[in-house]
Amino acid sequence: MRMTVSIKTPQEIEALRVAGRLAAQLLGMIGEHVRPGVSTDTLNDICEQYTTQVLACTSAPLGYHGFPKSICTSVNHVVCHGIPTDKPLKRGDIVNIDVTVIKDDYHGDTSAMFYVGEPTIQARRLCETSYESLWVGIGMVRPGMRLGDLGHAIQSHAEARNYSVVREYCGHGIGRQFHEEPQVLHYGIPGTGLVLEPGMVFPIEPMLNAGKRHVKLLADGWTVVTKDHSLSAQWEHMVLVTDSGVEVLTLREGETPS
Ligand code: MF3
Ligand code: CO
Ligand code: CO
Repeated sequence: MRMTVSIKTPQEIEALRVAGRLAAQLLGMIGEHVRPGVSTDTLNDICEQYTTQVLACTSAPLGYHGFPKSICTSVNHVVCHGIPTDKPLKRGDIVNIDVTVIKDDYHGDTSAMFYVGEPTIQARRLCETSYESLWVGIGMVRPGMRLGDLGHAIQSHAEARNYSVVREYCGHGIGRQFHEEPQVLHYGIPGTGLVLEPGMVFPIEPMLNAGKRHVKLLADGWTVVTKDHSLSAQWEHMVLVTDSGVEVLTLREGETPS
């Protein structure tokens, strides 16, 4: 059966709003715990506790295709899907924390970069440019726009600043399933690809590398790293295509559309 891109009903949209808001709340909460000496295992455990006890949700990553933890923590040259460990974070590290909660069968998926102490100028610039790239993509979302235009805009923003865009991983439709159609590539050709319609919901989640775009999967079957060991950064927001444009479902407290 060919997978099709679902248009969410008003009830589904409301469920995704709720799930998105809770995921954003979780991500905002865990940011305050990121500091030198804290392990990503500890961050994982705090998130799992908060997700189940405070949010009354379940952690989507836990057991997803065998993923062993509740969140993904991707440090420095790890691109995505890093598995929390007992190794303490150290001053100057950058870490992506990617959380996905399930509330009443619907998924909320969002991620952000966090600085462990003060980042280097290079690391800060990479993280800031990755954040800008995400918002360049978000700013293009409206009915009638094509996914190739969105990918092209993200890619252009990144490459103009001498960063590369990871090709092997992408955004995705979301709903009752963690990963649905369509694939939302962060590179592309203008005027091509799926035409967006009101009621589509998908995360945009560009991964930018300071060096070359190529990645390698580690033997644990999950951890994705840059082949050249350069730094990598990623931010993720879930968006809804509305009649007039876009609604970001995972805005954090104090975060303003930029
Ligand atoms: N949250 C990731 C995404 O944005 C997916 C993580 S899958 C996991 O799509 F199994 F590693 F958790
Ligand atoms: Co995610
Ligand atoms: Co995602």
